[in-house]
Amino acid sequence: MTETLVFDKSSDGFAWVTLNRPDVLNAINMEMRDELWDLTHAVRDDPDVRVVIFRGAGDRAFSAGADISEFGTAPSYVDARRARRERDLWGLMLSLDKVLIAAIHGFALGAGIELPMCCDLRIASEDVRLGLPEVGLGYIPSAGGTQTLPRHVPPGVAMQMILTGDPIDAPTALRYGLVQRVVPRERLYPEAEALARKILSQPAAAVRRAKRAVIQGIELPLAQGLALEARLGAGGSRP
Ligand code: COA
Repeated sequence: MTETLVFDKSSDGFAWVTLNRPDVLNAINMEMRDELWDLTHAVRDDPDVRVVIFRGAGDRAFSAGADISEFGTAPSYVDARRARRERDLWGLMLSLDKVLIAAIHGFALGAGIELPMCCDLRIASEDVRLGLPEVGLGYIPSAGGTQTLPRHVPPGVAMQMILTGDPIDAPTALRYGLVQRVVPRERLYPEAEALARKILSQPAAAVRRAKRAVIQGIELPLAQGLALEARLGAGGSRP
C-alpha cells in the first residue's frame, strides 16, 4: 500500500490495484502517477502476478482523470514533456505480458478512461460515464487517448468523443466495444475477479503468447501478423 494506490496481491496469481483518492474522484496526480510507475515495474517483474485488476476507490468514480489542480504547475512545458517521455507509464502498461483488466464504475474521464484503454479487458458497471474532456480544457488527451480510443471504437465515434468531450454511457460503450461487459454495480468486482480466475485457469505461456500476438499483430499488415503468429505459435508449450 502507498499513499494513492492500494495493492492487494492474492495468493493465486492475480492482484488488485485500487486508485485511492476517493475525495477527489481518484484524480490522477503526479504522486499517483509516480506510484503507478513504480508499481507497474514491480508487477512486471513479479512472476507470481499474472493478472492485474484496476479499480477506483469510493462510490462515484473509477477516476475523473488527471488532477486539474496540478495543471500548469510543472516548472516549464519542456520539463513536463521530458518527464512524460522519460516515464512513459502508458507505454509501459501496454508492453506488459501480464493480463490487465479494468473494472470501471462511475466517472471515467480523461486519464481515467485512458488507463483502462491501456488494459486488455474492460468491465463496466451500469452507472459509468466514459469521456475525454481534455479538448474543452484547451489540451488534447495525452495519456494515449488519441491513439488508443480509435483502436477500440470506430474512428468516427472516437473523433466525436474527443472533439465534443461528451461522455458516453454503459450501453453505448458496450455497443461500440469500448467495454466488453456491463454488469450491475454490485457484480462489478466479483465478475472482474471471475474473469481473472478464468484467465488464470488457462495455460500461462499460451495466454502470454496469445496476448503478444494480438497486441503486436494489430499494428502489422496481415501477412506480417500471420508470420508473427506462426513464430509465437511455434513455441508450443514453452514459456
Ligand atoms: N482533478 C482534481 N480534482 C477533481 C477532479 C480532477 N480531475 N475531478 C473531480 N475533482 C474533485 C472536485 O474538485 C471535488 O473536490 P472538492 O470536494 O474538494 O471540491 C471532488 O473531486 C468532487 O467533484 P465535484 O466536481 O464536486 O463532483 P460533481 O459530481 O459535481 O462532478 C465531475 C463530477 C466528474 C463531472 C466533475 O468533478 C468534473 O468535471 N471533474 C473534472 C473532470 C476532468 O475534466 N478530467 C479530465 C482532466 S484532463
